[in-house]
Amino acid sequence: MPQEILVTGGTGFIGSHCCVALMEQGHRVVVVDNLSNSEAEVIDRIAEITGSRPAFYALDVRDTQGMDQVLQGHDISAAIHFAGLKAVGESVAAPLEYFANNVGGTIALCQALSRRGIKRLIFSSSATVYGAPDQVPVAEAAPLRPASPYGHSKAMVEQILADLARSDPQWRIGVLRYFNPAGAHESGLIGESPRGTPNNLVPFLAQVAAGEREFLEIFGNDYPTPDGTGIRDYIHVMDLAEGHGAALAALLADGAGFTVNLGSGQGHSVLDVLHAFEAACGQPIPHRHAPRRPGDVATCYADPAQALAMLGWESRRDLNSICRDAWRWQCRKPIKHSSPWGASD
Ligand code: NAD
Ligand code: WQD
Repeated sequence: MPQEILVTGGTGFIGSHCCVALMEQGHRVVVVDNLSNSEAEVIDRIAEITGSRPAFYALDVRDTQGMDQVLQGHDISAAIHFAGLKAVGESVAAPLEYFANNVGGTIALCQALSRRGIKRLIFSSSATVYGAPDQVPVAEAAPLRPASPYGHSKAMVEQILADLARSDPQWRIGVLRYFNPAGAHESGLIGESPRGTPNNLVPFLAQVAAGEREFLEIFGNDYPTPDGTGIRDYIHVMDLAEGHGAALAALLADGAGFTVNLGSGQGHSVLDVLHAFEAACGQPIPHRHAPRRPGDVATCYADPAQALAMLGWESRRDLNSICRDAWRWQCRKPIKHSSPWGASD
């Protein structure tokens, strides 16, 4: 049954695609985002894709009064909490900011929801909580060994949410651990808009292919993998968005809470992604080999079996679709950042 769903961080990369997926399922969406890493224009793009407009509040989830007002003005059944900071390197330099936002923001959100008796929540966690896995594919029962303040913030929130659910069985909480989200909506109207130099492989490749950067640096070619480059589990952002739809359906059906991986279960090397992107954009992409990036692991990909068993969800789009859609988005003039932060390089 269609419901009204709060989406924090809903103008961001994953949140915006999730809004589209939810609205296509018939849900009404209420977006709260402080626009620290996204643009309000994304709401127009979501409206263009779906034919209807989500309610939008430019607000920090830690703004107690503001959140109370938003929740009073709507009949929210559940929240999906994407809002947060996500750059591993930046978190090492600014740990307090990361804990204040990611941990403090989640606590503030849960308190605001609680005051209105809303006890259905989906949280964006990350495969980063596994750190360097002992074995692949990585299942949910693998030990948690986050290796950065960002990773610690995600593991801490998972712990807080587990304690919250234990304290009050009315809370139903779904924790989703994403592997490597990439790609864009098939329309090319929404996608990833990194500010400054992209940290992640696919947006970096897209900018090199577009001539905005000279070459890709391949971090490490001496890993114990078939071609020596790092292997990851790239998952199309629309598959991820649909995974949230499945998770929401499970929570609204009054199922128990869950923690599941959202990944494709397939590992691809940096060279695989480079070649798939070259095929998508129809041109060679300049690249050089560079030393390993500190903190990187050789291989990490998901065991996605639990998502299929518990949510009936599995990824459908392959690496070629990821690269094709990322390239279409890159070519369709990504939304320009209004913030001066975008001018950093
Ligand atoms: P994003 O930066 O594009 O989106 C996050 C959004 O949250 C942004 O629009 C930002 O403006 C907003 N925001 C940040 N702090 C806020 C606050 N205090 N109040 C309100 N809004 C706030 O990032 P994304 O890639 O869409 O990631 C979404 C979530 O998924 C994050 O929690 C991230 O940690 C998690 N995640 C992302 C990845 C990835 O590779 N993109 C992987 C695993 C997990
Ligand atoms: C992928 C592969 C790099 C850039 C990060 C976060 C993780 C999660 C997803 C939030 C690796 C290689 C990359 C480049 C390269 N985010 N690479 N040249 O490191 O798996 O995961 O994003 O939760 O927490 O750590 O993703 O896209 O940075 O790298 O060779 O310019 O591409 O070494 O093998 P990663 P990534």
